[in-house]
Amino acid sequence: MSATLIDGKAFAERTRERIARDVTRLKAEKGVVPGLAVVLVGDDPASRVYVASKERQAREAGFHSVTYRLSGDVAEAEVLKTIADLNADPAIHGILVQLPLPEGIDSWKVILAIDPDKDVDGFHPVNAGRLSIGLPGPVPCTPKGCMMLLEDTLGDISGKSALVIGRSTIVGKPMAMLLLAANATVTIAHSRTRNLAELGRQADILVAAVGKPHFVQGDWIKPGAVVLDVGINRLDPTEEYPKGRLVGDVDFEAARAVAGAITPVPGGIGPMTIACLLDNTLAACQARLETGSE
Ligand code: GUN
Repeated sequence: MSATLIDGKAFAERTRERIARDVTRLKAEKGVVPGLAVVLVGDDPASRVYVASKERQAREAGFHSVTYRLSGDVAEAEVLKTIADLNADPAIHGILVQLPLPEGIDSWKVILAIDPDKDVDGFHPVNAGRLSIGLPGPVPCTPKGCMMLLEDTLGDISGKSALVIGRSTIVGKPMAMLLLAANATVTIAHSRTRNLAELGRQADILVAAVGKPHFVQGDWIKPGAVVLDVGINRLDPTEEYPKGRLVGDVDFEAARAVAGAITPVPGGIGPMTIACLLDNTLAACQARLETGSE
């Protein structure tokens, strides 16, 4: 059996088209344009590429989109001042600070400074708390994209067993919370977990978010399972693959022979992240309209 490929690129495109239609309607009916501000500190090459894509896709969907590019040696106080200005700016509904931040800047201090209602990454502790107790609020973009693809592939996931490999704040933990909220039975595995292969073979849903190329082996996968590969690893040019080739955390060819459905890398989860960022920004704009503060 060869697994169905889950086409995240096409799903993300349809999601962005839906968002663009909603933005057009919001402009026509309420005269409001959703605004997204992205803050990039330093010149990490991967972050620059991500931020440029976020800016371009926001513009294409009709958003007001601004990017603040701050030097890598900027004082922490300057970053906090930028956030305070954006919190107070009525044209901005969503703020994203691209991570990682350079050494010397306390990421949590910066995240805590963002107004939780503008925190379209869903990283603020208030939003992590909302997610954990089932209150509405912005949900981290990558796990949100995973859930959209999962629901599109499986429909109801209630009662299914799910294994999340990785316990990061950005992906693993919120992913586990979302699966739990959808009534899956969730196991979180991490670097100290001893029986990964065995846990994998019991999982109807396997989410790999560890950042290690080809970490998940084919024989860890239950026949027919849905495998979501969140990893984006650029292989070392000295290794056996062509220079710069992108691979996920799953040994794709081996997994594909066992799984029922699997996301490829690239073209799986990756494109969903920005689509969900736009969705969170649109939702933040709509929430402000509903509370009457727009
Ligand atoms: N760096 C890598 N992924 C992300 C993300 O989803 N949000 C932010 N802010 N930074 C990131």
